[in-house]
Amino acid sequence: MFMDSGLRPVACPGKTASFRHILVTAPAQGTDTMTTMIHVENVAKEFTLHNQGGVRLPVFDNVNFSVAAGEALVLAGASGAGKSSLLRILYGNYRPTSGTIAITHGGRPIDIVSAVPRTVLDIRRRTLGFVSQFLRVIPRVTALDIVRDPLLARGATPEEASERAKAMLARLNLPQRLWELAPATFSGGEQQRVNIARSFVDPSPIMLIDEPTASLDANNRNVVVRLIAEAREQGSAIVGIFHDEAVREAVATRYLDITDFRKAA
Ligand SMILES: Nc1ncnc2c1ncn2[C@@H]1O[C@H](COP(=O)(O)OP(=O)(O)OP(=O)(O)O)[C@@H](O)[C@H]1O
Ligand SMILES: [Mg+2]
Repeated sequence: MFMDSGLRPVACPGKTASFRHILVTAPAQGTDTMTTMIHVENVAKEFTLHNQGGVRLPVFDNVNFSVAAGEALVLAGASGAGKSSLLRILYGNYRPTSGTIAITHGGRPIDIVSAVPRTVLDIRRRTLGFVSQFLRVIPRVTALDIVRDPLLARGATPEEASERAKAMLARLNLPQRLWELAPATFSGGEQQRVNIARSFVDPSPIMLIDEPTASLDANNRNVVVRLIAEAREQGSAIVGIFHDEAVREAVATRYLDITDFRKAA
């Protein structure tokens, strides 16, 4: 289906800022909460369904918020409110209809909405991680290689990468007999844990997380909650969506309800 999910690169001029709808629940502790990592200004999203008579689907309007290092902002709102769409916009994957998103990359803010693709890729490589529900499996690449890969890409020695990758897979209770196998045949929950291990073995300065625990049992869910807290304590800025209320409450330092930004009819 051809839909307007936002193709890059597209420049959107910035507008002036105004803040609203930020509910502070608890401050992050032990970290520098002053470093803004994400600054969203006047973001709106409307999908246009080109193959269905150009029907326009407004999702949200005038979204403004910031996320600092050491915070975990949890996106709330009913199914279909636009949580996943907002996360994809933050990742530079969907193009917003209007607005700007400053991502602090290498110490300075860069608007990911108007950035050229090469810059977007560099931001993703060094600053912005996305944890989805699903592992992208590549034939013949083992679970251990998948988890080792980001460490090697960032300059770890093979020994160090292997050690840390194994420790992370063990923490997530992936049976050792699976480590040297390619995850294509793994169960949903096993694949999800490999995906989480890859994302958290070396957390990015910003982590965008969309329902990472959907297929996990309570024990492994708790491990993920712990990994998110550790990333935050190390200074990562987290924006996440969690289906499970207990997980939401354990993770959040702050909530943002997307329903508040629904365009007035
Ligand atoms: N690529 C797309 N093209 C057209 N419409 C889309 C697209 N992605 C999302 N939408 C629409 O935008 C709205 C918000 O969807 P989104 O997936 O962001 O919601 P959500 O809050 O994540 O919901 P859920 O809790 O069910 O995951 C929905 O009405 C959906 O149909
Ligand atoms: Mg969603």
